[in-house]
Amino acid sequence: MSQESTTAQPAVRQALHPFGTSIFTEMTFLSNQVGAVNLSQGFPDFEGPEEIRRAAAEAIMRGPNQYCPSMGIASLREAVALKMKRFYGVDVDADREVTVTAGASEAIGAALLGLVDPGDEVILLEPCYDLYPPMAAMAGAKTVYVPLKRPGFGLPRDALAEAFTDRTAAIIINNPLNPTGKVFTRDELEHIGNLCEEYNAVAIGDEVYEHLVYDGRKHVTLLQVPSLRERSIVISSTAKTFSLTGWKVGYAVACPNLSEAVRMSHQFITFCTPSALQEAMASAIGMADSYYETLLLEYGSRRQRLCRALEDMGFETYRPEGTYYASIDISPLGFEDDLAFCRCLTTEVGVAAIPASFFWKDRRAGKDLVRFCFCKKDETLDSAIERLAKWRP
Ligand SMILES: Cc1ncc(COP(=O)(O)O)c(C=O)c1O
Repeated sequence: MSQESTTAQPAVRQALHPFGTSIFTEMTFLSNQVGAVNLSQGFPDFEGPEEIRRAAAEAIMRGPNQYCPSMGIASLREAVALKMKRFYGVDVDADREVTVTAGASEAIGAALLGLVDPGDEVILLEPCYDLYPPMAAMAGAKTVYVPLKRPGFGLPRDALAEAFTDRTAAIIINNPLNPTGKVFTRDELEHIGNLCEEYNAVAIGDEVYEHLVYDGRKHVTLLQVPSLRERSIVISSTAKTFSLTGWKVGYAVACPNLSEAVRMSHQFITFCTPSALQEAMASAIGMADSYYETLLLEYGSRRQRLCRALEDMGFETYRPEGTYYASIDISPLGFEDDLAFCRCLTTEVGVAAIPASFFWKDRRAGKDLVRFCFCKKDETLDSAIERLAKWRP
């Protein structure tokens, strides 16, 4: 029997030392501890459509429940290819250009691990989703941060051009953008495309909120931009569109050459993901236009409910162009920063939110912003609004 060492060895690899516990875990934990209304982490408090859940249950009972092809089952890859044609007019080869992954998260990881060599540079537009920096670090990349221009979070064209070098392997574009809800314009994406072409870099699009774009705006996928059709990996997920975040059914769409990079690493990460859930999502993606229209209408009404209430309370509110997050400016409220505000809001007011500064490398750049998610039942939103209104009558 081996003796236990008395001095604990540091177990976590060096590349991960700069990163702590995710702020989503921390805020949800605190929220549960004090019984707050949780508008922090972005998951619905209602179930996804019953027919999708039934389809998964039937697939499990029917079987087989064994490993499926690493790239994903044919019906889901075909559904994704049809979706790309139906919503964006892009022709996609289901066999060679679609890879099913464990959520968008694994697809982002697989793309970076499959593409990047140690020392390569990866450009991140700030604010950026918390998964990108540690994932890029684990891939051995050097991260280069380019902050979007406030107040509207527009693309800083000159700064971005300066950030590209011969070592740039990839840039990640989260569109629509979590946390601020910015939707990139076609013109901005073309500018990114030109730079990727000039520097032979790959654009990785994280488009998980593609169906939540408001006020008549249209989501433009990277694959619609001619200069990016053969040099981008577009990643999406069924989590947000079908309100089934726990299933982690995601996928990456890219030309065969780039799909090869994703598939190569994916086979050594998860190899494959649950086939019953894939089967159910294959039929979900093919649902009638009315499903997608209703989804958008419902989210439009939740957005209006929360934003109008926040505005009525006198908060300067950022109404998102896309996603299911709304932010407020807390700078006039006298708190030390957004984290102090969110801790106080959770424990004193009973509403949990996310301090948006965690989406920047230099947290000072976002310490005036706090993000609320509105993927919640009306009564949950109303209960949060009521608590906030009592605090700020
Ligand atoms: C921008 C963004 N990308 C990826 C994900 C994770 O997606 P999935 O659950 O499919 O891994 C999220 C979830 O909140 C997200 O906001």
